[in-house]
Amino acid sequence: MIRIDAVTKRYPDGTVAVDRLSLEIPDRSITVLVGPSGCGKTTTLRMINRMVEPSEGTILLDGKDIQQQPVNTLRRSMGYVIQNAGLFQHRTIVDNIATVPRMLGWGKDKARARARELMERVGLDAALAKRYPYQLSGGQQQRVGVARALAADPPVLLMDEPFSAVDPVVRKGLQDELLRIQDELGKTIVFVTHDIDEAVKLGTMVAVMRTGGHLAQFAPPAELLSHPADEFVEDFLGADRGIRRLSFFSSAGLDLLTAPIVAVDATAEQITARDTGDAPYLLVTDQGGRPLGWGEPRELAADGVRPADLLPYGRPFVAGTDSLRAALDCAVLSPTGWAVAVDTEGRATGVVSQQAIGEAIRGAHAEGRENARTVPAGGGTDPEVTKVTG
Ligand SMILES: Nc1ncnc2c1ncn2[C@@H]1O[C@H](COP(=O)(O)OP(=O)(O)OP(=O)(O)O)[C@@H](O)[C@H]1O
Ligand SMILES: [Mg+2]
Repeated sequence: MIRIDAVTKRYPDGTVAVDRLSLEIPDRSITVLVGPSGCGKTTTLRMINRMVEPSEGTILLDGKDIQQQPVNTLRRSMGYVIQNAGLFQHRTIVDNIATVPRMLGWGKDKARARARELMERVGLDAALAKRYPYQLSGGQQQRVGVARALAADPPVLLMDEPFSAVDPVVRKGLQDELLRIQDELGKTIVFVTHDIDEAVKLGTMVAVMRTGGHLAQFAPPAELLSHPADEFVEDFLGADRGIRRLSFFSSAGLDLLTAPIVAVDATAEQITARDTGDAPYLLVTDQGGRPLGWGEPRELAADGVRPADLLPYGRPFVAGTDSLRAALDCAVLSPTGWAVAVDTEGRATGVVSQQAIGEAIRGAHAEGRENARTVPAGGGTDPEVTKVTG
């Protein structure tokens, strides 16, 4: 565990970048430092590997004061990733990644073998090994930066806005990849960002900092969204805090109706039988059970199913896996106001109205039923990246 204990950093010109900051950074999880520009995030991160020395206070790594440890040993136990990856431009990708193992005295072949293994781990095609950084896209370079930081298998990863220079789609891929790597390797990651959505998605714990190097709140993301400590945190979380909080509620408890579903080849009698009055529309599926669209029961029975005339069904959600946010999004996108639940194979398992989702949301809120981390990578989270800068 990394423990930051009443740490202050005053730069020589008098700027107080960090002010009596105390944080307990848990092992084997992702702790995010988030806050407006200039609030002291980078300074905090750099004090952890002693690129910056605190003016007051102590930082403990596994109970030992990092001041008492040789800087080289300390830094070897901490991979460091920065924006734009900071790669060595004159070295190939494989040699960039092999940098630290080589410094530690590994032979060239062993270090390169390790580098190739890491390329696979971070989702880089082996064919890129011999290229130079300028021959890679921004997202690929960022992956190389992560692989390089992991090369000597350090227990700690320090990441300073590693994904802020890439577009939202690539960024989402990198975030998902990081969550996957974290699941597999169990590193202790301290991650700096000023994007609150990124913080909520990645963080097991999130430290919200405010200008002047003060800690505004330190909490799991679900708690941050449900109980912001003050107005500053609330503003920083943004206007759609309530909607985003839904990402932490499972859709498992929704009452799905199965009656209003018919196959595309259903007879008029079968269609009429399905029109039980529970829903104004029937969901039509193909013969394999995959949704095609909504139709009005009487029209379907009278004219037969004409797939081209069906109303679109929005984006279905996977019942139990996706969050209430995904279910609500589906209902909002659907012109009928009903959401379609599917299994992992994409077959319709039920339909649910916006109203029923609303009731489930009220129930979930009342019981405070959110989980610390129910949302699988990418599931139910918004691909749109909202930037909050100071
Ligand atoms: N070497 C330095 N000398 C003097 N002041 C500094 C120095 N480095 C940083 N600062 C100041 O300390 C404060 C915190 O800077 P820091 O880089 O930690 O912020 P940050 O939260 O990482 O911001 P950003 O989101 O823009 O990267 C800022 O006011 C900055 O101007
Ligand atoms: Mg910074």
